Order: sequence, then structure tokens, then C-alpha cells
Amino acid sequence: MSVGFDDSLRVGHGQIDQEHQALVSLINEFLQNLVYKQDRNTLDLRYNAICEYAALHFSHEEELMRNNKFHDLCIHEKRHESLLTELRERSRFILGGTDDNLSDIMSFFHDWLVFHIKTSDVKLADFLNRRSEPL
Ligand SMILES: [Fe+2]
Repeated sequence: MSVGFDDSLRVGHGQIDQEHQALVSLINEFLQNLVYKQDRNTLDLRYNAICEYAALHFSHEEELMRNNKFHDLCIHEKRHESLLTELRERSRFILGGTDDNLSDIMSFFHDWLVFHIKTSDVKLADFLNRRSEPL
């Protein structure tokens, strides 16, 4: 059980793609641990690693937006904020055991990440790539 990272998830910006891939790997490690019913402590640590890396990655994107004067900075920042809230809130159910359907959990992570990449990050990468093109 894993969340796939294929070309459809690539936005065409080296750093962003690399970090998305790292985020997917952390999610998949957590899912693996969940499938093999690792102890609560391990699951907590793995889930925390996802939250921390997501926050770090979002801050990198925000830095790129700020440095390049991206017009949608405010909206994108708000989306990051709600993604982090959603991730932390869901952890109570997943780690608490009330959310125990593995395919639901996988869909949650998939939708959580993929929707944002395909709607928001694609626009950001496009903007950054256009800015770096020679005039
Ligand atoms: Fe983003």
C-alpha cells in the first residue's frame, strides 16, 4: 500500500519536485508501518516526521514565493496552513485507532497532497520557471 509519485505529479521545478518526492516517501514509510502494525510510539514518530517535513517544505515554497514576488503568496500560504491543520487533526483519528480503514487513510494522504500539487504548486512552478527564462 503506497502513494505513487509519477510524472503527473511533477511540477517541473527541481527543488519542489524533490521535496514532494521526499514527502511521499515519508508518507509511504508511515503507511508501511501502519500495515505492519508497528507500535504506537513508532507510528507517532513517523507521523510526526510527515508533519515536520510538510511544514519545512511549505516554508521553502513560501520563501521561493516571497523572493520571487509571487502574486498568489497570500492564498497559497493560507492553503499551506489549512493543509497542516488538516494533517494534524487527522492524526488524532489515525493514531487513535478510530480511523482504521487502510484504504481510507491512503486516500486521505493521496488527496491531501495531490490536490494541492495539481492545483496550486503547478502554478507556482510555472511562474518560477517563467521568471528564470532569459528575456
Ligand atoms: Fe504549496
